Amino acid sequence: MKRPNMIRRTGVSHGISRPLVTPLQPSVVYAADNPDALDSMYEGREEGFTYSREGHPNASVLAAKLDQLEGGQGGIITSSGMSAITALFFGVLKAGDHIIGGNQLYGRSMRMMNEELPRLGIATSLADPTDVNAIRAAIRPETKMILVEVVSNPTLRLADMEGILALAAEMGILVAVDNTFTTPFGYQPFTQGADFVVHSVTKLLAGHSDVMAGYVVARDPEHQKRIEIVAVTMGLTASPFDSWLGERGLFTFELRYEKAQQNAAELAEFIATQPGVKRVLYPGRADHPDHNRAAALLNGQFGNMVSFEVTPTRNAANALANAVPQLAFAPTLGDVGTTLSHPASSSHRALTEQDRAELGMSEGFFRVSVGIENIDLLKEDFKTAIQATVAKG
Ligand SMILES: Cc1ncc(COP(=O)(O)O)c(C=O)c1O
Repeated sequence: MKRPNMIRRTGVSHGISRPLVTPLQPSVVYAADNPDALDSMYEGREEGFTYSREGHPNASVLAAKLDQLEGGQGGIITSSGMSAITALFFGVLKAGDHIIGGNQLYGRSMRMMNEELPRLGIATSLADPTDVNAIRAAIRPETKMILVEVVSNPTLRLADMEGILALAAEMGILVAVDNTFTTPFGYQPFTQGADFVVHSVTKLLAGHSDVMAGYVVARDPEHQKRIEIVAVTMGLTASPFDSWLGERGLFTFELRYEKAQQNAAELAEFIATQPGVKRVLYPGRADHPDHNRAAALLNGQFGNMVSFEVTPTRNAANALANAVPQLAFAPTLGDVGTTLSHPASSSHRALTEQDRAELGMSEGFFRVSVGIENIDLLKEDFKTAIQATVAKG
């Protein structure tokens, strides 16, 4: 897969000069000349904006840049990753349809599958995306869509994307890829045959934990139109300021992602050498259960996420989080700084201990979203944190 080009600064012309930074345009309403002008906008003959829930310049600028990265057209910016997924579901699915989701989707996507879609008459199944036969077994005559994350959270397993996309093509089922973890640099769903791409822009693309935004794009313009109508009607679109911040974050995305991945690879090796560590999961390591698939799918971009396990007790987990206050213990990912999360008390707390054990998440299991800090400082931090678990375990 060819890596997309880095986003360039282009600015917007004003006469013979242009500001380097995209102007922030917070106007909610846009005045037009007369009713004929409104007709020509609504009927698509002229470009223009009317009301910012329906569209505004900052969302258009960010969407065009994300379209460029994903190789899509007409994608929209939403107020969060979850609103992108909501717009996708409500734009494309209807009561009576069936959707299959990966069994380790992001927690709120899982809730959509388990609670909200069934409540509205859309049937759902969860299946293991690392095993195409499990997906095949979940297919029903009314299956309309498969939603998959290429790399699962927090055990970092790799979906069998080739198998799933071939199966879906054979059965006439739409495939939506949540590309948040992998980013367009690691995986390009459209070049592989997917029908929809969604992102939590909040995470790696914006990168500074100061904006919530999402993005959704469909391969088929008719689907895209439906998704956009739903987003605008249900009020799922993003504000100008969030769109503007998202665009600003995007300019440094390539640099941040390269450094974070380099740090992640080095930190994973380092953590594996620390006394008290039971296992380390990083798709770039040869001992990762899906290493070969990761090497084939991810374009050499093994990501910035590392998971590891220490003594499986709450005491050890508390000791690890307490030991290094500057290592943010926060259930998010993709920030410029390294963050540490503990699935048993956060993203996966709704599961029983038994269910977590089956997924390989004990009380001693941590997920690290590696940032762009100096790697020697990170190694020191993790050495101290892991040593604390040995003392308290
Ligand atoms: C893979 C994935 N998809 C979607 C989301 C939801 O994004 P947001 O928090 O922007 O709504 C998240 C959030 O962590 C995520 O990790």
